[in-house]
Amino acid sequence: MNHGSSLIISPAKNISGSIRLPGDKSISHRYAMLAAIAEGTTRLENFSTGMDCTSTLNCLRALGCEWEQKDAQENVIEITGRGRALQAPSLPLDCGNSGSTMRMLSGIVAGQQFTSELVGDESLSRRPMARVIKPLTMMGAKINAGNGDRPPVRITGRNLKAIDYRLPVASAQVKSALLFAEGETRVEEPVRTRDHGELALQAFGAEVTRRGNETRIAGGHKLRGIEARVPGDLSSAAFFLCAAALFPGSRLVVDSLLMNPTRARLLELLVQIGVRITVTQLEEHHGELVGTAQVEGGRLQGATIGGADTAALIDELPVLAAVAPFTEDGVEIRDAKELRVKESDRISAVATNLRAMGAQVEEREDGLKIPGGQTLHGAEIDSFKDHRIAMAFAVAALRAKGQTKILRADVADISYPGFFSRLENLLQH
Ligand code: S3P
Repeated sequence: MNHGSSLIISPAKNISGSIRLPGDKSISHRYAMLAAIAEGTTRLENFSTGMDCTSTLNCLRALGCEWEQKDAQENVIEITGRGRALQAPSLPLDCGNSGSTMRMLSGIVAGQQFTSELVGDESLSRRPMARVIKPLTMMGAKINAGNGDRPPVRITGRNLKAIDYRLPVASAQVKSALLFAEGETRVEEPVRTRDHGELALQAFGAEVTRRGNETRIAGGHKLRGIEARVPGDLSSAAFFLCAAALFPGSRLVVDSLLMNPTRARLLELLVQIGVRITVTQLEEHHGELVGTAQVEGGRLQGATIGGADTAALIDELPVLAAVAPFTEDGVEIRDAKELRVKESDRISAVATNLRAMGAQVEEREDGLKIPGGQTLHGAEIDSFKDHRIAMAFAVAALRAKGQTKILRADVADISYPGFFSRLENLLQH
């Protein structure tokens, strides 16, 4: 199925089997960063295998933090904490494609007594950083960016002072960056975003209090290393769940799956549109809910996604849009302007690829309207070097007429190396 970096996907008749996902990307980044500034050793099983989390680990090493992979099969990473005292890096911190690495690490280095420069690849170098630069500057750090607010970002750390900050844009990365910076802080978000940063801080021993959309952290906390197993990545699972949704009679079991309520909106949405999902073996580890989902495809109705739902589903919107033509009533996505500043302009990428496959799509400044009941044909489409676009269109291709060629498909490695072969193993053609 692999042809260099492009890939051919053939239509499928069904999907069934069971799967366990590599560790959640959002949680892996946070556990690794907090482990670096904690005291003692942290042992993480099922750490994300994606290149984004490797970027985080490599930046931590450049900041003097030692870590080691103890087991490749289970991707066990052991990190030796340095307390709050990191080391001045001798080279720029390379965040690769990872916005999470750049934004959250900015919060950490802003409190260090040295200067660091954070750089990224071509895609990350186009992404807005004012959202972290502004509040961290208010806390006392000295920060310059390249062109406007774009990377590279040069941060001279200080002893930070407390702030009381209302985020203008809903962003869990920015919320975590501010909570990871030293000092007492209060953050208020326009809508509640994923709370992995808050839960991770509590697991490492910080005092975090939450009320509605407001989060406070007490200053001067000492963090202590933890032992944890990272729950299966829900945003990676989304591709399999949506593939199962496409085939009435499919049966897929996903175990050890992250079910944190601030991330699991996708499961509710799929149920709402006609997929049968049974959740069993719910457990809580370090505040994170984990469980097994058994999924059966059915007839798919449509949905309108907007407001807080858009924020809750932000990483799952590309795949929901890619399967939208196969629903009965179509899918409308609103309030999703943030999609334009992700790894690619995801609104434009989805619209371009759906049209290449013969679908009708209405592209709007802040969303998409995709009618249901459409037939797609296989086509040559592009990942736009965006991991979630490559994987989303592998799913759409399963129900298209004829083969689909995905250009630059190897970008899936950013969050999920091995995705395409894992998918292929579950398909019946
Ligand atoms: C993430 C938050 C979201 C999401 C990203 C991961 C996180 O970004 O799109 O993939 O781990 O906090 P924003 O904070 O920009 O919304």
